Amino acid sequence: MFPAGFVWGVGTSAPQIEGGVDLDGRGPSIWDAFAETGAVRAGDTPAIATDHRRRFAEDVGLLGALGVDAYRFSIAWPRVQPTGVDGVSHSGLDFYRALVDELLAHDIEPVATLYHWDLPVALEQTGGWPSRDTALRFGEHAAIMAEALGDRVRRWGTVNEPWCASMLGYAAGVHAPGRREPSAAVAAAHHLLLGHGLAVDALRAAVPDAEVSITLNPYPVVAAGPTDDDRDAARRVDGLANRLWYDAVLEGHYPDDVLDDLRAVSDLAHVRDGDLAQIARPLDALGINYYRRYHVRHRPGASATGPAAQWPGSPDVELVTPEAPLTDGGWAIEPGGLTEALVAVTREHRPPPLYVHEAGAAFEDPVDAGSGRVEDTRRVTWLADHLSAAAAAIEQGVDLRGFFVWSLLDNFEWAEGYAHQFGLVHVDRTTLQRTPKASARWYAEVVARNALVEPG
Ligand code: FCB
Repeated sequence: MFPAGFVWGVGTSAPQIEGGVDLDGRGPSIWDAFAETGAVRAGDTPAIATDHRRRFAEDVGLLGALGVDAYRFSIAWPRVQPTGVDGVSHSGLDFYRALVDELLAHDIEPVATLYHWDLPVALEQTGGWPSRDTALRFGEHAAIMAEALGDRVRRWGTVNEPWCASMLGYAAGVHAPGRREPSAAVAAAHHLLLGHGLAVDALRAAVPDAEVSITLNPYPVVAAGPTDDDRDAARRVDGLANRLWYDAVLEGHYPDDVLDDLRAVSDLAHVRDGDLAQIARPLDALGINYYRRYHVRHRPGASATGPAAQWPGSPDVELVTPEAPLTDGGWAIEPGGLTEALVAVTREHRPPPLYVHEAGAAFEDPVDAGSGRVEDTRRVTWLADHLSAAAAAIEQGVDLRGFFVWSLLDNFEWAEGYAHQFGLVHVDRTTLQRTPKASARWYAEVVARNALVEPG
């Protein structure tokens, strides 16, 4: 059994499901622009995605059938403010009001994330996240959303996975906006955090009973070699992937060793007096996303340039795939890492209550032509093992309040396009027809019983 009141949910994000780029006067996002350059696998784009902007009522019906307590979704900044500044789209705001009303009508609590990576192109053109101005604009955007939805949304998230948004987007260039500029990535990281802190204040000002969180993706890091250099590679990756974010958000400082590593590529002049106090505003909840561990070794030049250059200032680290079963997305299946991540943040910091904001796996299972069913038994096993790992963390004293499966629908999986399918619900790429998978039926039972249900 999970604790009474445990929040069961599922999650999505706007750029991965909404489509509807022709509605609401929506402006282009950096993901639209990135996909137009052909940078996404198979030339896929988020233009249609799952067409959720039009089909949201049907999708809330799917949530109702799951019986979940809560639904984590994100707000597309360019749908609400097409250029990221001023000029609000009332039709865009009305869409999110209608979505939230539909959720509330089904007794499902909305959990709204303000930034899940779809920066308005106009703001990228004026510098993007490496520019301090973007953080200030994000604070204004948060105020607009808090004003518009604060009467009906109590649970808010600021930024989703700022590590990905900064390092994959501006250092490795494998995510939008596709820049490979290490010093810009370091500034982007800081400004995403600053934007988070400004958003916390904006939410508190407009929504007095708000429960405010940020969503981070800590990866337990394992040295995949025996040498001191391998251990140092692991320290560097742990610093950039985990400690940088935790220390800034929960303690109000950056770790000294990480700053030393970063000085190889940045003068850090973007960090101004008072910023860290703004970044470390008290939170009511912390979202943890978990998919796998990082296994890291030292290899000269491995992360110096190109798509592996996601560790600014650390050109000699390499991620290796461990001996373990893999998902169809190629990520090792390591449920124990979820327990480790939850226990580590609890022991090393005094975090607010924790939520698993995302956990899930890419497995491609077709709709069976005869039965019309999708038997995604590997996903059921993956989820059951990770729920056990979450329960183990609770037994070890972690204050875990909820679990959100990633994701409701098969959707636009960033640079992988539609190739990696994370949904509890299958979405046909031609007809966009939704078919709940076996995992959806299994999860509905978990939710109803507030307890792990053994697979099979
Ligand atoms: C996370 C993202 C989420 C989804 C999963 C698979 O990094 O937050 O949008 O793509 O990975």
